[in-house]
Amino acid sequence: MSQSIVLGIETSCDETAVGIVRGRTLLANVIASSVEEHARFGGVVPEIASRAHLEAMQPTITQALKSAKISLSDIDAVAVTAGPGLVGALLVGVGAATGLALGLDKPIFALNHLAAHISVDALTHEQDLEPTIALLVSGGHSSLLQVEDITGSIIKLGATMDDAAGEAFDKIARVMKLGFPGGPAIDSLAKDGDATSIDFPRGLTTSNDWQVRPFDFSFSGLKTAVARYLEATPDYAKANVAASFQEAIVDVLLLKSLVACKATGIDSLLIAGGVAANSRLRALAQERCEKAGIRLRMPAPGLCTDNGAMVAALGALMVSAGRSPSPIAFDADSGLPVEAVSLN
Ligand code: KG4
Ligand code: ZN
Repeated sequence: MSQSIVLGIETSCDETAVGIVRGRTLLANVIASSVEEHARFGGVVPEIASRAHLEAMQPTITQALKSAKISLSDIDAVAVTAGPGLVGALLVGVGAATGLALGLDKPIFALNHLAAHISVDALTHEQDLEPTIALLVSGGHSSLLQVEDITGSIIKLGATMDDAAGEAFDKIARVMKLGFPGGPAIDSLAKDGDATSIDFPRGLTTSNDWQVRPFDFSFSGLKTAVARYLEATPDYAKANVAASFQEAIVDVLLLKSLVACKATGIDSLLIAGGVAANSRLRALAQERCEKAGIRLRMPAPGLCTDNGAMVAALGALMVSAGRSPSPIAFDADSGLPVEAVSLN
């Protein structure tokens, strides 16, 4: 069963995404995004997202099958994001996946979106990644995890106490009128800026924080500092603000990741989630990991943001690990904790 064909469906936010893998080989990765419908609101509107998923679901599945050059009957298992995410959005994917599994009489795996972000690594590496420290940075979550087995054993070392890293990018971009989502806009603007020009605060890095909350993050102080700076400096240099803000986030993410590696004795770091597409995070991670003798893995930027391939990849890992499928009737869980890799 190690070369099973798994179709994965992802609808936790604004991407209707379907991926198909055979074992660790990516066969198709089709994404229909409703991001443009949300842009004028400066964030994802749940009701708009759910409706867009309903419209895009069937054509996206058809396109994925076509692109993988397979038919529905070739599928050995169905995988779907069961949480965390927007509940109305999740339900569209869960409904479609359940219908497919029932119709095809194949097993279904109800999976955790966050674990799926990490699993996408399997599509680029033959070797298992575990044990590894994982820095998971997306629009909704920012956590440091100790991954012993991606199909069942994830230990949470720390998480953000306020905004997620991606959320901080999105909020600052909104204040700077750079559009939504803000991460890619700040990333490209920062390339023309001086990251040392403004000394923005690094959250939870005082000596007391290192004692009490070594692996937690906080970005609210940084957000306030940037907002104050913008108010006080009407003719601010956009690129310098973007670069300095980005540097403050990336610096603290990597500082804590490397301390987590040292504290656990694990010499491997995986960076996953939408913010892992950030070019400065990728460059600085490479530099610092090389210096610290830590093996670094980062999915290709296109596989960092939400996609169906990551769900299919985790599904395929579950199959090859001999994990039990989920019952056909399960509830989407908008608050599914990161430790719950699948629903049983
Ligand atoms: O993982 P993801 O696609 O969706 C969630 O599960 O949340 O992450 C989306 C987040 C957004 O906040 C977006 O601004 C951020 O990832 N992002 C980036 C970059 N590309 C996407 N942040 C910084 N730099 C980027 N290049
Ligand atoms: Zn995500």
